[in-house]
Amino acid sequence: MLLDTNPNINGVIFDLDGVVVDTAHFHYTSWKALASEWKYTLTHEDNEKLKGISRKDSVVKIASWAKVKVSENELNEVANRKNEKYLALCTALTPNDILPGISEFIHELKASNVKVALGSASKNALFVLNKLKLTDFFDVVVDGNNVTNSKPDPEVFIKAAKLMNLDPKKCVVVEDAPAGIEAALSAGMLTVGLGNAEELRNAHLILPNAENLTLEQLNKLNQYHLT
Ligand code: BG6
Ligand code: MG
Repeated sequence: MLLDTNPNINGVIFDLDGVVVDTAHFHYTSWKALASEWKYTLTHEDNEKLKGISRKDSVVKIASWAKVKVSENELNEVANRKNEKYLALCTALTPNDILPGISEFIHELKASNVKVALGSASKNALFVLNKLKLTDFFDVVVDGNNVTNSKPDPEVFIKAAKLMNLDPKKCVVVEDAPAGIEAALSAGMLTVGLGNAEELRNAHLILPNAENLTLEQLNKLNQYHLT
């Protein structure tokens, strides 16, 4: 067994939708409206499978559940319309919409010289971060515009660690989606799942939300890398 002499976490990578802000719910509402045009009722279980997945991959999944064939043109048209609905819901966002505990936790990380990154599948990440007035707190932002493969592929998190110049083992990912936890584990990172304990069971630490999340808790997670 190799002992890790530096037990500290050097970077935290936040997912955006459903972790920093409750836009996961806006995505769900927008997809539900589009799916109903195909006479398909999108369920909560379906939506869990869409979390963390890119816009285009989401259309493909919904079309397959609805058993409709879509051309490349139609796929793009549906994705664009979904985005219009989604952005209309996002325009009203303000810093008051930052989820409980997130601002405090980011401040604690910055005060402790822990790097802070965003690792999101969304192409609207900067728009949303600007609305929340959070952009300047992130040392690194990797979003849907910078990656080829969506979660559960680890690309987004590996890129974020590289840009922070950090060893993936010293990074913790905070996620609300099973696909995101899977991606972070494949990247060799420690994971915090926020939300449903059953759905996020593969995470190293599971909490209902970020309200009581502290750096001390993350540093304790490092024991998982000691074997
Ligand atoms: C992820 C969401 O963060 O971003 C998904 O969990 C969403 O639901 C994906 O489809 C892509 O987002 P956007 O904003 O580029 O359509
Ligand atoms: Mg999410």
